[in-house]
Amino acid sequence: MNVTSEYVEKNVNTHETKDILSVVKQASLAQERTPVIEALAAYSKVTRFHMPGHRGGRGADPIALSVLGEQSYLNDVTGVPGMDDLHEPHGCIKEAQDLAAQAFGADSTYFVVNGTSGAIQTMVLATLDDGDTVVIPRNIHKSILAAIILSGARPVFVLPCYDEYLGFALGVEEKSLLECLKGEGKDAKAVLLVNPTYYGTAVDLSSLASFAHSCGKVLLVDEAHGPHFRFHPALPKPALDSGADAAAQGAHKIIGAFTQASFLHVKGTRIDRARLKAAFQYLTTTSPSYLLMASLDAARRQMALYGKDLLDYAINLAGVLREGVNRIPGLYAFGDEVTGKPGVDFLDPTKVTITVRELGITGYQAEKFLRSKKGIQVEMSDLYNVLVIVSFGNSPQDITLLLDGLKSLVDAVHHGELPKDLLAAQKSIPALPPIPEMALSPRRAVESPWERIRLEEAGGRISSEVVTVYPPGIPILYPGEVITRETVAYLNIIKKLAFGISGPEDRTLTTLRVVKEM
Ligand SMILES: Cc1ncc(COP(=O)(O)O)c(C=O)c1O
Repeated sequence: MNVTSEYVEKNVNTHETKDILSVVKQASLAQERTPVIEALAAYSKVTRFHMPGHRGGRGADPIALSVLGEQSYLNDVTGVPGMDDLHEPHGCIKEAQDLAAQAFGADSTYFVVNGTSGAIQTMVLATLDDGDTVVIPRNIHKSILAAIILSGARPVFVLPCYDEYLGFALGVEEKSLLECLKGEGKDAKAVLLVNPTYYGTAVDLSSLASFAHSCGKVLLVDEAHGPHFRFHPALPKPALDSGADAAAQGAHKIIGAFTQASFLHVKGTRIDRARLKAAFQYLTTTSPSYLLMASLDAARRQMALYGKDLLDYAINLAGVLREGVNRIPGLYAFGDEVTGKPGVDFLDPTKVTITVRELGITGYQAEKFLRSKKGIQVEMSDLYNVLVIVSFGNSPQDITLLLDGLKSLVDAVHHGELPKDLLAAQKSIPALPPIPEMALSPRRAVESPWERIRLEEAGGRISSEVVTVYPPGIPILYPGEVITRETVAYLNIIKKLAFGISGPEDRTLTTLRVVKEM
């Protein structure tokens, strides 16, 4: 048995716990250490007369104790002497952040307790002022829009590549970015990219980083789905190693941290640290959860010490799944053949996108079937696909169950037990209208008084909301953009197709929220 499967057998599949702390205490290697966890262990015997009110669990409701665990209450402490201060780290948090910076190749790393959204908003507020321009892909996560609104910056959008068959956006091609940086985005202060995509495709950022830097721009990366990249050579090249100035990573999404726990890594001198610290403090609670920070500390340790072996294991499992899916008639899971297409230089093989469109059903139906009939929950679904994330926490049995579930799905479709909703929904999807002119910055648009008007009357008005249609998952309107007649015509067609719509308050698209004309 090799190291990987031994580790996984002991620590993952059987959930057997060993005395990790004794290992940690004897450790001589810095990356073996977990300073936040060590500080929590040292604090466990202290008699408490301070927040939180549950007093290490003794005051907690027994139901909560039994479900959430006594240890989690015991370790739910806050900023008391010896436990450091996330706003001014100088003790165990500083040590843990320094170890994370070392492991992730950053100059400084910040522990973020309000999601990758918080990390993104911090790096944006540290970089952009009201009125600054930032070049971003059109299909950003909503946390980036929130950051742009908070900062007052004006976005210049670049369209990502789009795969018609798979029905989702890939990365932005380097040549589109370079064109933009020489044209409309010439005066931009920063470029903010999302790399990898949710589906695990990624681009090589190296030459873009050099070009952006050569014209004085900062490169920020939403690397929410890439905290594991640095620890395995078969994974896409990480943002910081490609030259990015800052990268926001969702340690809770892919590696072992608790939900919400994220990293913000910064490298080089282009980002002013004093300003970054101020932005971090504006956005961060003064009572950060030590459970979240301890989980970041441990996730870093696990990646630094065992990342390569654990990821070998996850990549192998994902390979078994991908091959199994591709042997089931009617299903397709793309692999390395996508690399080299426009907008794809690398693929994270632990993301397995299962395309169900040949069955005539939607990805939403497949997700629902797997959940309701097989007790399997995938990461998400869209019109044509379900997305599965394979982690080193999965077992070979999980893969067998999923493959069995997928075979049952195909049988259910063939036996007429599942209606072919895709065939009904899939009229031809119209081409996206051109990117509209931005009349107001998103912040000005959302601050302005607004009114709700019928879609038919919206031509020429300024949107005060975002409208995204799936597929393609690329927003049609952002706040501040002028609604053209082409956009109205597009949305009128979309309304009649049963596609996913997100953003507008009125999901039926009968009305739109627009800036009031004064
Ligand atoms: C690409 C991307 N960026 C940012 C986020 C925000 O992450 P969080 O939910 O941790 O705030 C997500 C969430 O799924 C995401 O997919």
